[in-house]
Amino acid sequence: MKKVGIIGVGEYFPARVLTNQDLEKMVDTSDEWITTRTGIKERHIVNEGEATSDLAIKAAKEALQNAGIKPQDLELIIVATITPDMQFPSVSCLVQHALGAKKACCFDISAACAGFVYGIVTAQQFITNGIYKNALVIGAEVLSSITDWQDRSTCVLFGDGAGAAVLSEVKKGGILSTYLGSDGSMADLLMLPGGGSRNPASHQTIDNRMHYIKMRGNELFKLAVKIMAEAAKTALDKAGLKCEDVDCFIPHQANLRILTAVAKKLGLDEKKIYLNIHKYGNVSSASTATALCQAVKERVIKKGDIVVLDAFGAGLVWGACVMEW
Ligand code: ACO
Repeated sequence: MKKVGIIGVGEYFPARVLTNQDLEKMVDTSDEWITTRTGIKERHIVNEGEATSDLAIKAAKEALQNAGIKPQDLELIIVATITPDMQFPSVSCLVQHALGAKKACCFDISAACAGFVYGIVTAQQFITNGIYKNALVIGAEVLSSITDWQDRSTCVLFGDGAGAAVLSEVKKGGILSTYLGSDGSMADLLMLPGGGSRNPASHQTIDNRMHYIKMRGNELFKLAVKIMAEAAKTALDKAGLKCEDVDCFIPHQANLRILTAVAKKLGLDEKKIYLNIHKYGNVSSASTATALCQAVKERVIKKGDIVVLDAFGAGLVWGACVMEW
């Protein structure tokens, strides 16, 4: 079995910023409510005509440069997204073409906010088994395209962005353990009901606002705390490590209050949590991807550090990954 690690990271956020003060003019909310209930101050939103692949391509280029890998050296491209440019073809095929990564096989993963971790674990399998040498995993979302801008309980939460990682064989460290889980019995807590084969697009689905995110936030909140803590603990146990060994904890950034509760449950020093939720909100699959990239760029993560990715989202799905950087 080959050791697999992340050898390069990249990110991209669209230029336009939507602040809490901007949202105060759109729905009945306040900067005070959003800040105290979620920790979010602003989020980035695409301009008209900008789609998920546009963000994914920019993040991918930075990750390839950071890794010192040419697009032609990629054998696998995985894009985790719940907001593809269109139902098909996959975003990963659009990325492949834009990069000129002709040797790469491509597919998308739908695992909501845990998508990037699912992508990392999937790519790891191909490399550890010797099937491929270099893989690109991207988490990219334009959640603004499925956000109901009339619903104050959801529209304050989400943003757009993309993060990417290049995975390859490494001599030392790399991925030490992983853990994935799912529970479809709670699918109705967070979904986009319209536009699929169950409720194909029609005047009725549009009138009923079924092409937007529907979320039971309060119920999800409690599950997120419990499941994210359990997932991180399980992955750490598998790696033979304890919470005290963690140097940088990179969680899915859905709500600051969820993250402080997860830290408390784990007995993890809150200072070890890397946070970017105040600037970007919840960017689903791009959340852990961009947070990881920024933590590396800011040198919060250093060589030899123990890093934990931990994510939870619609499905329900969850996953954690322990790495030695
Ligand atoms: N501004 C002002 N008031 C608001 C707003 C708003 N934007 N939104 C809701 N409220 C009000 C509600 O109407 C309610 O008022 P009421 O008491 O008069 O009925 C009150 O605030 C409390 O509402 P709750 O929904 O109970 O608020 P809560 O504290 O639970 O916070 C939130 C809501 C932020 C959504 C939280 O529940 C949360 O973060 N949930 C988890 C989300 C999550 O983890 N999702 C999974 C990952 S995302 C993915 O997979 C794409």
